[in-house]
Amino acid sequence: MLPETNGAYAEVNGLRMFFEDRSSTDPTGVIVFVHGYPLNLSMWRYQLDYFSITHRCIAPDLRGFGGSKHLNQPLPADQWTMDVFADDIIALLDHLRLDKAHICGLSMGGYIAFALWRKHPQRVRRLILADTKATADSDEARANRYKQAEMVKAKGATALADVMLPKLIAPDNLDKIGNEVRYMIESTDVPTIIGTLHALAERPDSSTTLAEITVPTLIVVGEKDEITPLSDADFMRDYIDSSRGLAVIPNAGHMSPLENPDAFNEAVAKFMTHDS
Ligand code: MLT
Repeated sequence: MLPETNGAYAEVNGLRMFFEDRSSTDPTGVIVFVHGYPLNLSMWRYQLDYFSITHRCIAPDLRGFGGSKHLNQPLPADQWTMDVFADDIIALLDHLRLDKAHICGLSMGGYIAFALWRKHPQRVRRLILADTKATADSDEARANRYKQAEMVKAKGATALADVMLPKLIAPDNLDKIGNEVRYMIESTDVPTIIGTLHALAERPDSSTTLAEITVPTLIVVGEKDEITPLSDADFMRDYIDSSRGLAVIPNAGHMSPLENPDAFNEAVAKFMTHDS
C-alpha cells in the first residue's frame, strides 16, 4: 500500500504550525520526527517515505521554521527555550488526539526530546536520539552562540549557512546534499534563528535526565559527525539503563538521516521491531 502524503496546518500555541502527517492504512504506532537547527522537516524526507509504510509519521516544522508561522509576534528571543519547543509538539499531539508517540530527534531535536521526556514522560513510547548530546554548552560555546546571533543580525542566514555547512555535512557528501541543506538554512528567518540560538545557549544539562529514561532508547550517530561526535553518543548510551545500543552510521556526518538514509532507516527499523 502506498503511503499517503499529507502536509497540514494546526493552530497551536500562537502558531500556524506546518507538519507532515503520513500514514500507512494500518499503522503500528506514531513516530514524531523533530528536526535540528537551523533546518526544517524536509531533512526527514527519506524517513517519512520509509517509515510511513509501517507507522503514522508526524514531522512538524518547529516554531518559525519552514512553513510554521507565528499568528502574532514571535516570542522575545530570551523566552525561546527547549521547553517551549517541546510544549509545541505536545500541543500538536493534543490537536491530533494522539496520546503517545515514539520521538525521533536529531541534534536540537534530541535536546527537545530530553525536554519532552522531563515534562511529559507519559506521552513518550520510545526515544531515538540521533546526532545529539546530553551536555549543556560550555561557557565558550554559549558565548559563540551569541556571537553567531550578532553575525546573523548583521549578515543574514546566508552567512550562517556558510559557517555551518562544512560542520553539518561530511566532506564527501557536500556535493550530494549541500544545496538542499543550504536552502533550509537560508529560508529560516532571522528572528527564528536568534530565538533558537538563545534556546540552544541556555538549554539545561540533560546528563541527569539520561538515568531517568525508562523507555527503550536508541542512540544514532554519523561516524564523521563533528558537532556531536561518537564520544557524545557513547556517553549517552552508557548512562541510559533502557538503552538498546548505539548505531554508528557509516559515510555520514551530523546529518546522518540525509547523508546515509539507507543505513539510518535500517538501524531505526531494527530498533522499532525490537521487543520493548
Ligand atoms: C543542530 O543540528 O540542531 C545543532 O547543530 C545543534 C547545536 O548546535 O548544538
